[in-house]
Amino acid sequence: MKIGLGSDHAGFDLKEFLKVALKDEGYDVVDYGTMVKKSVDYPDFAEKLAKGIQGKEIEIGILICGTGIGMSIIANKFKGIRAARCCTIQDAFLARQHNNANVLTLGGRLLGNELAFEITKTFLETPFLKGRHLRRVNKIKKIDR
Ligand code: RB5
Repeated sequence: MKIGLGSDHAGFDLKEFLKVALKDEGYDVVDYGTMVKKSVDYPDFAEKLAKGIQGKEIEIGILICGTGIGMSIIANKFKGIRAARCCTIQDAFLARQHNNANVLTLGGRLLGNELAFEITKTFLETPFLKGRHLRRVNKIKKIDR
């Protein structure tokens, strides 16, 4: 599975940690930046990664800012993106099972590396349940058009 990572300066350290950890798990990782820790604007990186999903360069994206909130607001403005800000493993599990979320957003200033990695692994390993949830996700897609 090809995974995209993106962050601003507040999410940079966690992005770098997850990049190594995910590669160690065998994932193919594309880094959409930021590449240095100087202050940048989170919408720029959410946009790059969202376009990566739209262009099918990656299947799943992980966006990290200070809280995960700004990244989720921007990512959800792009057609086809279902971004979920997850603070717990349960959030990640349900965002995949029920919402078929394709972007995980994390708060680099809120989460320790180990918890963030567990949330990320849960997000990547949990399948969409379909069934009644598919009907609901299809309604999201209809609004998206
Ligand atoms: C940057 O200071 C911070 O505002 C940003 O990382 C993010 O938390 C916005 O939602």
